Amino acid sequence: MIPQHIAVIMDGNGRWAKARGMKRHEGHRAGVESARAVVTRCRELGVRHLTLYTFSTENWARPEEEKRVLFDLLVRFLKGELSTLVEQDIRLRLLGDIGRFPMAVRETLRMATNKTAHCRSMTLNLALNYGGRDEILRAVRSLLAEGVDASKLTAEQFEEALYTQGQPDPELVIRTSGEQRLSNFLLWQAAYSEFYFTPTLWPDFGAEELEKAVDDYSRRQRRFGKTGDQVQPTDSIASRGSAG
Ligand code: IPE
Ligand code: IPE
Ligand code: MG
Repeated sequence: MIPQHIAVIMDGNGRWAKARGMKRHEGHRAGVESARAVVTRCRELGVRHLTLYTFSTENWARPEEEKRVLFDLLVRFLKGELSTLVEQDIRLRLLGDIGRFPMAVRETLRMATNKTAHCRSMTLNLALNYGGRDEILRAVRSLLAEGVDASKLTAEQFEEALYTQGQPDPELVIRTSGEQRLSNFLLWQAAYSEFYFTPTLWPDFGAEELEKAVDDYSRRQRRFGKTGDQVQPTDSIASRGSAG
């Protein structure tokens, strides 16, 4: 079965470059090509939501020079891909507070989200200045500011205050480069995700390995707390039981 939502922690660009005696930014440049390939193949496979962890709240700690390169690559990617996104009916959405990015980056992001707002075949979420804890805190703050009735607050209502509002949780979370951690990614949404960890460095990850991950996922049994016998192949977290 093809997951509706795949989320990817694109890691290992720096190590890929280092292994080749190149500068880190060459790794990021190569990483953009992997992102392009994965977007295209997800669209072909019929994945409805793809989330790419592009810049975390912790990544601000990186050297200024590296951040400049990353932002520059992001702007180029969006400008270069815009017509393809529209052609392929892919809507761009942003997860994270983009207010902290330089003006030129913010403007490109706004332009690209506006120009793809009508697209419906797939949603491409770019997680930018994204952190799961930050997202949860912001949701709590906004609900408090609205004066929500604490005793009546539901999980569904809470989810409406998250950046991913209106989108299903990722069934599959992929992380490249051999690291086996979430690094503050989709803490709420990944509660019942399946994980696929691969030692492949992000610039070496492409359409083929994406299919391998999807194939691996499709052979797993998701149980959502039930016994293996109770579970139906179509079960989702929505039918996970009385506590839901
Ligand atoms: C992922 O590659 C890209 C970002 C986090 C922006 P890294 O830059 O983290 O590469 P490594 O982990 O140092 O190899
Ligand atoms: C996670 O990668 C963030 C992104 C892929 C954008 P990092 O390289 O920043 O994660 P850590 O620091 O190794 O956990
Ligand atoms: Mg890394």
